Amino acid sequence: MSFTYLVVGASRGIGYAYVKVLSAVPTNLVIATARDHQSAKKLESLGSNVKTILIDMQDPYAKFEAAFKVLDTLAPNGVDVFIHNAGISSSDASKSSLEFDADQYQKILDVNVGGPAKAYKAAYPYIFKGKGTKKIAFVSSTVGQVGWEVSPGGGQGFNAYGASKAALNHLGVQIAKENAGSDVDLVKHSVTVLLCPGLVATDMAKGFEGAMPPEVSVAASLAVISKTTAADSGKFYGHSGESQPYSIF
Ligand SMILES: NC(=O)c1ccc[n+]([C@@H]2O[C@H](COP(=O)([O-])OP(=O)(O)OC[C@H]3O[C@@H](n4cnc5c(N)ncnc54)[C@H](OP(=O)(O)O)[C@@H]3O)[C@@H](O)[C@H]2O)c1
Repeated sequence: MSFTYLVVGASRGIGYAYVKVLSAVPTNLVIATARDHQSAKKLESLGSNVKTILIDMQDPYAKFEAAFKVLDTLAPNGVDVFIHNAGISSSDASKSSLEFDADQYQKILDVNVGGPAKAYKAAYPYIFKGKGTKKIAFVSSTVGQVGWEVSPGGGQGFNAYGASKAALNHLGVQIAKENAGSDVDLVKHSVTVLLCPGLVATDMAKGFEGAMPPEVSVAASLAVISKTTAADSGKFYGHSGESQPYSIF
């Protein structure tokens, strides 16, 4: 079986590992986004089955629409699996709301919520072509659970980052519900899930102990995605497939 994947935010870390793992299967076509030519070249050197699109999550929506037009030619039978991975945090994310630099909110929400909203909307016509069960996965985080605490009694923490992942969860559930109500079969039977990759050894998790290699997290997440059916749409999973609540408050 040949599958077409679109990985948004793939230059390094978890996104790069997705492209590395997926492109190792020669029948897969992996379309990956990056922000600069150098990263795009690095991704394309992974295999002839890797194609790239340049886009920044802070670009206006019109730029997403223009950049994603190439999917018409690259993916004539549609994108089978859309994985939105791009995201940012900040070095002072775990400080209290009074110590945290509140000016960070604008950028973090813009990249982590506006980015996936624009990417999904622009990719939509190219996902829902062809046949099969179309899958949409947003890389979220358990720190987006309402009531999540740094340590028991340690406060909610993760300020704009946590809030952005809670908002991403909202977006994912909204998409799952909209699609389930569609009168187009391909859309109605699609799957949208939120996925926490676990603690992964990337630039974002520098300084955290016990992080797993990106390829390990990605292999587990791909197994979760492949097992999902339309009945799972709207669910939030950990990388090992454990169901996650949206709120633990
Ligand atoms: N690492 C963890 O333990 C962990 C845990 C839970 C959730 N996550 C989530 O997993 C995802 C990937 O994180 P990571 O750990 O791999 O982080 P990372 O190593 O810092 O990589 C972040 C990725 O997002 C891209 N990105 C950042 N800002 C962007 C923008 N404005 N436009 C387009 N792309 C942008 C980066 O591209 P550039 O190279 O161009 O900056 C890079 O490819 C994120 O959504 C993160 O919230 C990570």
